[in-house]
Order: sequence, then structure tokens, then C-alpha cells
Amino acid sequence: MRLVDIETRAAWTVADLEGDTRWIETLDDAARRDLTNAVRAAHDPARSLFDYQRADFDLGRAWTPITRCLREIKEGRGFALLRGLPRDGLSSAEFELLTWAIGLHIGVARPQGKASQYLSAVRDAGIAYRTARGRGYSSAAELDFHTDSADIALLTCYNVAKSGGESMVSSSVTAHNVMVRERPNLAALLYQPLYFSRQREQAPDEAPFYPNPVWDEAGGLLYSKWNRNRVIQAQAMEGVPALTPLQHEAMDYLDEILRRPELMYATHLRPGDMQMLNNHVTLHSRTAFEDHDDPALKRCLFRLWLAPPDWPALPRSWRPAYGSVAAGTVRGGIIGQAYDETRRNYERRQAAELGMRQPGS
Ligand SMILES: [Fe+2]
Repeated sequence: MRLVDIETRAAWTVADLEGDTRWIETLDDAARRDLTNAVRAAHDPARSLFDYQRADFDLGRAWTPITRCLREIKEGRGFALLRGLPRDGLSSAEFELLTWAIGLHIGVARPQGKASQYLSAVRDAGIAYRTARGRGYSSAAELDFHTDSADIALLTCYNVAKSGGESMVSSSVTAHNVMVRERPNLAALLYQPLYFSRQREQAPDEAPFYPNPVWDEAGGLLYSKWNRNRVIQAQAMEGVPALTPLQHEAMDYLDEILRRPELMYATHLRPGDMQMLNNHVTLHSRTAFEDHDDPALKRCLFRLWLAPPDWPALPRSWRPAYGSVAAGTVRGGIIGQAYDETRRNYERRQAAELGMRQPGS
């Protein structure tokens, strides 16, 4: 437990982000052209995403700015915004493939839910968020601040909503430091495990819930994991200890800190933007939105979760959620209930290409 301030660039305030915009990269026309050409040359509607390989896509002049973003999320602010993806020249299927292609160069994609899907279209599918099966990305609701269950989350924006749908990011390292200063007893409590519901999406060999503390350390770095909706849903499950009043207070205090105007960065993603997040040091959220009536205009983003080859080991307490905590392993994700040979082969091939290991191998 570290009840002192942690000083890294990942501990930022809104003023820090506004004063130093190295976390924003904008692709120029040449880079955009290279991406368009790479996707057009490889796109084949008869192939599934799993059929593509890294070598199918030469990202050309876009790769250098992408690597700067990767460094920023790994060792800098923990999030980055890549602007200027070729949205206008591509169909939504091609734009989805572009998202996947960039992912192939970064890490091993991780499944995201019950259907073991590796790339989710984030749009309103009429799902109720605050229920035992609720998942925020399929709803139009305002979401709690949370981390996704993977090292990296990429979100590319194809269409924006008619109104709302603002995207928010807060630094979990800053939130930790603030809580340590203001309420050290509550901060200490969040180093103890909470129980998170798997929202009935668990794989056959997984329990319906898992323990994970909000804070922990590994290799001198602070890690954070939080999702109020899942912690509250787990309370209805047999075998999950009831939250104490002090734990409730700590959870409420954390959420209150995350939304302080000087700590919460809010922005509207624009078509062609890619938001890149390090889930260990940031939390994210979004406001409710009202959508267009025309299906072709409806809010549409593509979400990809990735395990990168060169990130450090996670805290041991992350193991129930991540499967493996070792560096260079294929870890994280929501394995789900459709994890089959095709998916296993994709992961094996992609891990080998990046020099990564699979847990247990
Ligand atoms: Fe999320």
C-alpha cells in the first residue's frame, strides 16, 4: 500500500492536459492516404477479421505518430488522441477494418463479452445498463467512471450522436493521490479487494464474480481497476460479502473525485478520432446521448481491447480478472462463451508474431 503521493506524468489535472498537448497527434494527408490505401488493398468482404494478418497492412507514414501515442499511453499521460483517421474515404466496414489493422500492429486483441467478440461496435442497441446483464457500450445511458478489462482500449469514431455522448477521462493516479491526501482511511480501504460481477458473461470455467482491489502496485507503478456497476451487481450474488458502510463511502468518494471539474477531462470525439487508453492509470465514462433517426447516421464507434507485448507485469491481485499478470503474455479481456478454435488460432498466431506468450505455455 502506498499512502503517499505518486508522482508520474499519469497523475494529471485538466490544466496539465491543456498546458502540454503531446497526448494529441494529428495525421497529415500523406499518413491518411497511406492508411486508406492499406485498407483498400487488403479489404475483402469474404474474409473475417481473424483472417487478416499484420503483414496485410502497411501503415506507412501513419505508424510514427501511432507509436508516439503508444508511448504516451504506456509511459506518459495514460491516454492519447489520434486525430484525422481517413473517415470520409472509407465505408463503415472499411473503417472497422482500419481499427483492426492498427490493432494488429499494437498487440493481441482481447475478447469483450459473452459472444467472445474482438471488435465491438459501440452503439445504442437498447440495452439497459443498470441490470445484471447490462453492458454500457450497447446502451445510450450515462456511464459510471470505469476501467475496461484489458491493458489498452482503442475507440475509433465513425459517426457522432445527434446530441450528447461526450467522452470523459480521469486519471486514477490523481484520484488516488487526492484521496490519500483528503481521506487516507478510505484510500487504504480501496487497497482491499472488492467483488466485481461478470455480468453473466463468464466462460464455463470462470466464477460469476471475481475479487480485485481498486488500487495496487507492481514494479513501483500504481494500478487501478474500478467499475461501480459491476460491484453493485455482484452484491446480489451468493458468496459475495456485503459491502460495509465505509466501503460504500470510499466508492462514493472516489466517484466524486473523478468528476471534479479540474480533474475530469471531457471532450466530444469527432469522426476520424481514435481515443487510446491505458486502463491501469485512467478511468473513462461518457454522457447519455440522443441518436439520429436515420440508421446510416447513428452514433457508431468501434472498440478494440489489446494486450501489448512490451508492458510490465501487473499486480498479482489482477490475476482473477486478467487470467495472467506476467509481462509479455496474452492477458485481459472477457473470454465469454463463444471462445472457439478460430479465436484460439488467431491469438496463437498473433502472439507468435509479436513474440508474446499465452498463459500456461
Ligand atoms: Fe469502457
